Amino acid sequence: MKIFIDTANLDQIKKAVEWGVCDGVTTNPTLVSKENLPFEELIQEICRLVPGPVSVEAVSTQAGEIIQEARGLAKLGENVVIKIPMTEEGIKAIRVLAMEGIQVNTTLIFSPIQALLAAKAGARFVSPFVGRLDDITHEGMALVEQIMAILNNYGLDCEVIVASIRHPLHLVEAALLGADIATVPFPVLEKAMKHPLTDIGLERFLRDWSKVKHK
Ligand code: G3P
Repeated sequence: MKIFIDTANLDQIKKAVEWGVCDGVTTNPTLVSKENLPFEELIQEICRLVPGPVSVEAVSTQAGEIIQEARGLAKLGENVVIKIPMTEEGIKAIRVLAMEGIQVNTTLIFSPIQALLAAKAGARFVSPFVGRLDDITHEGMALVEQIMAILNNYGLDCEVIVASIRHPLHLVEAALLGADIATVPFPVLEKAMKHPLTDIGLERFLRDWSKVKHK
């Protein structure tokens, strides 16, 4: 499973790249609004740091404007992927952009049919939001399972990005399903790395090692 980092924070991205577990980055307007750098500068820097796709969201709502905006955003870096919300206007834009070779990540996916339609329109990625479904007592991971089955049934060339991940168990579930990608907030990635028995075990090994006699 590829791991994308769901952040626009450069320090977090640098750390994840150093750890060797950052296959890409996803941003959205909320994440970008938390950073101080000018938007264009921020995205260019993320694109330089990350050895994989960097999703950047278009905020226009009409197809023609989404297409224009996407063309501009795509110039910010070779690895930019345009995030387009799943709407009627968004779908129209996806088809045009796909034909131009601009990769699209369709975001705010909450049903399996939305994912199928986005993939048919030419989206390279679809992003089901599992945490937000869990929040309203719909099982988010069941949606991921259905989307994967449907895309697989028709051999559609579209990868599933499990998004709105809230805790390490979401990562485990995504990996057990065989999801292509999970996009993870940095604090969840930090948590996923740790286990109390690892810390206790290491402390014990180091204590015992200090008693070992050397020449
Ligand atoms: O990738 C989408 C993600 O950022 C949404 O997460 O926690 O706001 O539902 P959340």
